[in-house]
Amino acid sequence: MSTSTLGSSVSAKETKDDKQYNSRALKYSEIFVDNNQDSITAYFRFLDLPLKGKTVLDLGCGDGYDLSQIKSKGAVIFGIDISEEMANLAQQKNPEGCIKVGSFDQIPFPDQSFDLVISKWAFQSTSYIDPIYREIVRVLKPGGQLIYLSSHPIRQFIEKKQKRKDYFKKEVVESVIFDGQITIREPSHTMNEYLSPTFFEYFSLESYEEGYDSGAEKVDGDVYPSYFIVKATRKTHQNSILTPHDYRLAIEVLIKTSEHNDLLIDTIRQHVLPKLKQKTRFLDVRSGAAIITKNIAREFTYTAALEPNQELAPIYKNFSGVWHRCSFADYTSSSLYDFVLCAHVLYHLPDQELKNFVEKLLALTKLGGICLIALMAPRGQHHQLQLSFNPNYVNSSHVIRILDYLGVSYTRLEAKNHFKGSSFQDMLSLCRLFVLDGTFSPKEWQAMPFNKKQEIQEKIVQFAKQLTTGRKGQYVLEQEEDYLIIYR
Ligand SMILES: C[S@@+](CC[C@H](N)C(=O)[O-])C[C@H]1O[C@@H](n2cnc3c(N)ncnc32)[C@H](O)[C@@H]1O
Repeated sequence: MSTSTLGSSVSAKETKDDKQYNSRALKYSEIFVDNNQDSITAYFRFLDLPLKGKTVLDLGCGDGYDLSQIKSKGAVIFGIDISEEMANLAQQKNPEGCIKVGSFDQIPFPDQSFDLVISKWAFQSTSYIDPIYREIVRVLKPGGQLIYLSSHPIRQFIEKKQKRKDYFKKEVVESVIFDGQITIREPSHTMNEYLSPTFFEYFSLESYEEGYDSGAEKVDGDVYPSYFIVKATRKTHQNSILTPHDYRLAIEVLIKTSEHNDLLIDTIRQHVLPKLKQKTRFLDVRSGAAIITKNIAREFTYTAALEPNQELAPIYKNFSGVWHRCSFADYTSSSLYDFVLCAHVLYHLPDQELKNFVEKLLALTKLGGICLIALMAPRGQHHQLQLSFNPNYVNSSHVIRILDYLGVSYTRLEAKNHFKGSSFQDMLSLCRLFVLDGTFSPKEWQAMPFNKKQEIQEKIVQFAKQLTTGRKGQYVLEQEEDYLIIYR
């Protein structure tokens, strides 16, 4: 949905319900304060914070009543509303405020502009909540807060009114509010949609309250919550350079298009399994989405998968082996393994740690067993990309140096993998993942001046552009890999 500043129109594919407040703006503005006393009191208890000098954005600000209260606490106020009529009223009420016509899912303000984002009785007007969270994360400063009040899903369920109601089915429900003076139409929601995985990915929930507002529709004299309030803090994501959303997008492209799993599984089946004396114990270090692990685990009596990322829990639910939710550094085992696999793991390690890591991998491999280390090779397109950002990025040559130093013999097999993007955006997010996540540690990235970061981002854009295949929307990045097979 596109946005515009106050006075001009919103040109977008809106539904007729999006702007329903245009025809009700004045009426709503006249009567809502008297009718919403319970929710207003509860909401402003949440907003009882030191706000002097803070930048505050109100989403679906209506006639600007809430912003005027916030302004009286010394905040610098901003608001958006999809209804021009409402935005006009809000601007009149708050001449010093910056009010724009716009939608929650495309907030017309720059990244990291606000200390606090607030919203009251508005999110329920829109069909999907996750896109709102993504936009809020974009415009909130790291560590900034979100406080919102929305229609309680139980209330919307009750307002469905028909006999066999389905709580989980998204339907437009009519809400007759303020003793029948106003009727609004809004899509129903579940609590899952509000407290969604996306919400928890971006925010830490600080408090939650549900309550009843006498202005809500009264259905059959039932007593039920009509609203809920959430107070949350935007996570700072100090451990990751990319936002979890960017990260997930790139991983999706990577998983969908990479030939890496097939190449590695073929190599293990051809060059590792036939050479093992015993196939009792298999260890996969940093097993990730466990695609290779599960395939190879079938050949062994016992498999251990080391993967510290708790979010991958669903993948390991029916896993036939043992999932250790710990890093390799924290892992100890008194039993050794016939086969130890470590595929594309070592990129972030400084030299000394790299040597310790390799030594530990070898120490966990039985005599007569095999350790396989897969890493990017210092050849080809992907290597050029990494090299142009960080000449010291870890690749197979670093591990080869360590193996030579330790006097350990190995066989090196070359492989060529292709990542395919079906749009420029896909390829860009992949390149950003490889460069930003693969080249810089979060600490290095945080310490970098802003203009240097911008320069890097622009260089990634230019690199991604030249990966076009000439066919519309088709981009390919070639990655050369080395598989280092160490027979103990
Ligand atoms: C019930 S009113 C609440 C207004 C105000 N927050 C209050 O508590 O008095 C809901 C407001 O959300 C606005 N709204 C609905 N969908 C929106 C969207 N997608 N983006 C921005 N505002 C929206 C409506 O135009 C309306 O002004």
